[in-house]
Amino acid sequence: MRVGVLTGGGDCPGLNAALRAVAKSLMIGPRAQILGIEDGWLGLAERRARPLSFRDVSGIIQLGGTILGADNRTNLLRLASRGGVDVTEEAAQWCREIGLDALVVLGGNGTMCVARRLQERGLPIVGIPKTIDNDVVGTERTIGFDTAVTIAAEAVDRIHTTSQSHHRVFLIETMGRETGWLALHASLAGGADVVLLPEFEFQIDEVARVCEQRRNSGPRFTIVVVAEGAKPTDGSIVIRERIEHSGEQVRLGGVSMVLAERLKAAVDGEVRAIVLGHVQRGGPPTAHDRVLATALGSAAADLVSARRFGHMVAVQGNRLTSVPLAEVADRTRFVPVDSPLLAAVTAVGASLGIPGDPTRARDRTGTL
Ligand code: F6P
Repeated sequence: MRVGVLTGGGDCPGLNAALRAVAKSLMIGPRAQILGIEDGWLGLAERRARPLSFRDVSGIIQLGGTILGADNRTNLLRLASRGGVDVTEEAAQWCREIGLDALVVLGGNGTMCVARRLQERGLPIVGIPKTIDNDVVGTERTIGFDTAVTIAAEAVDRIHTTSQSHHRVFLIETMGRETGWLALHASLAGGADVVLLPEFEFQIDEVARVCEQRRNSGPRFTIVVVAEGAKPTDGSIVIRERIEHSGEQVRLGGVSMVLAERLKAAVDGEVRAIVLGHVQRGGPPTAHDRVLATALGSAAADLVSARRFGHMVAVQGNRLTSVPLAEVADRTRFVPVDSPLLAAVTAVGASLGIPGDPTRARDRTGTL
């Protein structure tokens, strides 16, 4: 049996741990040969792959990034170097030519979307969810998310002491694209005073009100965690870059800077902003991500051995399962208004930048 492995989209901590688990499980179990496709979908388009030995995937569980290389600009559905044409049929044909019995792809929403198209073209494919954004439908956790939350929460801790000492308002911007999972978890873990999420348009007046209230009462400083995709009711999302033909054409970033300028006009005292950026995606994975990656990777190998293709391994209710790619592709998992974590934000007196309490958790039993 010959199995290809590919890490699609941007890198994140835990990819190597998952590659190791897939490759070792398939080498030890069905004695498969493993071929690593280089640089994600770009390598598939350019027909670049190399055999991976047991040794190649040993000693990498703790390494950040991906040993296969990453690229998050290539989209097989609209290949830029070929004028934006769909090359999925050619890609599937090459996989057949090199004798792949299966292809295991690790990725986020963009990757699962391409995986679904390849499956429709008859390619035996299995998905593993990874992204620091935690926004893949069908799974409650993605590889890389826990590490990013841990890094962002530590950043909040570090900003906390300097913000407190200088009596400043600090805006800390997290990644996450159009979803607020990373900002929500980091803000709860760091005990932020305000958290601004893409799912809920915020009011600048309300953010200013919280800052002023804290300035004029005991604390005198305010920590605001803002997701890169957040936007005010009277503004728009802040776009850093547009990349034509890429799966995710819009790259976000900079909302904290824009918001800082507007807040400066509305509050007394200093307002500072910091964009955490790719620090959130770099370095070694947490123990939790290594465990998750190993569990999901070996579960994906099981699907390959059982020839159950067209599925993505997943976590639901803290149990391993799998979901059809058809249910995952072309969708995004947003923070729901009845999330118990949103309710926890307001329960501890923090603000979502909206007057009153906009959360709708009936009880505390929903998904974390
Ligand atoms: O999807 C992962 C992610 O890190 C997002 O949170 C972020 O918006 C985007 O990728 C950044 O992409 P790039 O590495 O191309 O700047």
